Amino acid sequence: MKPRAIVSEMDSYVPGKSQDEIASEFNLNKDEIIKLGSNENPFGPSTKAIEAIENECKNINRYPESVLNELQQELANYSGVKQSQIIIGGDGADEIIDVLAKTFINEGDEFIVPLPSYMYYEYLLQQYGARPVYAEWNMNENKLDIDSVLNSITDKTKMIFLCTPNNPTGTLIDKKDIKDIASKNPDVLIVVDEAYFEYAEVTNKDLINEFDNIFIIRTMSKVMGLAGMRTGYGLACSEIIEYMHRIKPVFSLTRLSYVAALNTLRDKDYIETSIEKGIESREYLYNELSKIDSLNVFPSKSNFMLIGIKDTGFTASEFAVELMKKGVIVRDCTSFKGLDEYWIRISICTLEEDKKFIEIVKEVLS
Ligand SMILES: Cc1ncc(COP(=O)(O)O)c(C=O)c1O
Repeated sequence: MKPRAIVSEMDSYVPGKSQDEIASEFNLNKDEIIKLGSNENPFGPSTKAIEAIENECKNINRYPESVLNELQQELANYSGVKQSQIIIGGDGADEIIDVLAKTFINEGDEFIVPLPSYMYYEYLLQQYGARPVYAEWNMNENKLDIDSVLNSITDKTKMIFLCTPNNPTGTLIDKKDIKDIASKNPDVLIVVDEAYFEYAEVTNKDLINEFDNIFIIRTMSKVMGLAGMRTGYGLACSEIIEYMHRIKPVFSLTRLSYVAALNTLRDKDYIETSIEKGIESREYLYNELSKIDSLNVFPSKSNFMLIGIKDTGFTASEFAVELMKKGVIVRDCTSFKGLDEYWIRISICTLEEDKKFIEIVKEVLS
């Protein structure tokens, strides 16, 4: 049986390595592995979310709620937007991107991604017959090359993805640049990915009231500590949200994810501590790693940072293997378009793990 032509041509997405994979490959104790590969929250979930999940377990014989009113309201309060300006996804922000594609993409449309950026946009949109057009992130100044975006726009451009803070480069896109792109291109949807906005303490959500062609992507996988519950959301003008609701999978947000999200959002202390500890870990890692001459560490406004390792004499995949042998998982960025084979990305850990990681890096480099 032959799949659709696009499926035969596609490569699989390469996710970060899991603890289980590394434990069995290198014969390590899973619990001692330090995982810095997937930009997760290392501080554990909210205890209120855990309690809520435990209480909800007895109801999992029932389908989830299809109308997510209470959670929508809680997210609207958290985000400072109207309930009608929110859509919630049950496979994280990735589902929101998928629903965006299903709602707006026609075969032959183009979408622009400044490279390097989150690779999943391309992976999803291509499935609907759209063609990626690459703009540039200025790696010398670590900022968006806005001219490269504007120059890439054609009459086929349907979406432009602007990730801020950008994964994997870690820095923000100026609000002025986002407004500039949106106002010059009213027929193009500007998708602003704010998966990590809490770590930067900067948002562009106010722009959804000013522009009906701006869509903000958010997730509960990072600061909210719910990566395993797969909950994401999007913010936009009510018209876009209404179209998307017509085709969004009805039951994709499970009962357990629903109560976990609701109770995390109500746990303000957890959210505040999660941001504070995340920023503390990021700054510690940045300061310590910057002292190592052979590493080119990019400053970051997120929960991860990009590191150029060309001067170490290792390629990223060699370096990642050396670290894995010692129980550390980092992201080898060799598969990221827009980067060569000399980049790794690391994400925050607990301070204790950060210290161990720094020691292991020094050992490998000595
Ligand atoms: C920039 C960016 N957007 C979206 C996502 C997807 O997040 P989720 O876990 O909610 O699917 C990620 C995940 O790492 C990401 O880095």
